[in-house]
Amino acid sequence: MTTVDQILKHKGRKVHAIGPDDTVLDAIRKMAERDVGSLIVVEGGRPIGIFTERHYARNVFLKGKSSPKTSVRHAMSDRPVFALPEQTVTECMAIMTKNKIRHLLVLDGEDLAGVISIGDLVQSTIADQKFSIEQLEHYIHS
Ligand SMILES: NC(=O)c1ccc[n+]([C@@H]2O[C@H](COP(=O)([O-])OP(=O)(O)OC[C@H]3O[C@@H](n4cnc5c(N)ncnc54)[C@H](O)[C@@H]3O)[C@@H](O)[C@H]2O)c1
Repeated sequence: MTTVDQILKHKGRKVHAIGPDDTVLDAIRKMAERDVGSLIVVEGGRPIGIFTERHYARNVFLKGKSSPKTSVRHAMSDRPVFALPEQTVTECMAIMTKNKIRHLLVLDGEDLAGVISIGDLVQSTIADQKFSIEQLEHYIHS
C-alpha cells in the first residue's frame, strides 16, 4: 500500500504557508496564485493552523466579514490534523473522513515535511488500481 512518504516523493515537499496576521485577502490571492486549496498557518516557525477555501466560505463570506480587514488568525482552524510519512493512503483517508477534512499536514519528527490533500489520495488510489489491472491483463494474456 502506498505511503504518505511515497506520495510526497512524487508531488514534492513544498509547503505553501501564510502568517496568522496576514489578511484573508492575502491568503485567497496566494491560494489562487499557487493553485492550492489550503495554506498552512505558520507562526515562529511552527504550524499553528490551516486555512482552506472552506474556512473562507464559512468563516468569512457567510458571516459577511471583509477579507481585506479580517486576519487569517480569525478565520483559520487552529486544530490542524497531522499524518506521519509511514502512514498509508487508506489510513489517511480514514483520518480525513473521521475529521471531515481534506488536507493533512505531514510531520517528520518535529519538522513539517509536506501537505497531502484528498485529491492526492484519490490520484494515488487510481494509479494503484491501474497498475493492478495491467498486471491482471498481463497475467491473463501470458
Ligand atoms: N480539497 C478541496 O477542499 C477541494 C474542494 C473543492 C474542489 N476541489 C478541486 O479538486 C481538485 C483537487 O483538489 P485537492 O483535493 O487535491 O485539493 P487542493 O486543490 O488543495 O490540492 C491541489 C494540490 O496542491 C497541494 N496542496 C494543497 N495545499 C497545499 C499546501 N498548503 N502546501 C503544499 N501543497 C498543497 C495538494 O497536496 C495537491 O497536490 C482541485 O481541482 C480542486 O480545485 C478541491
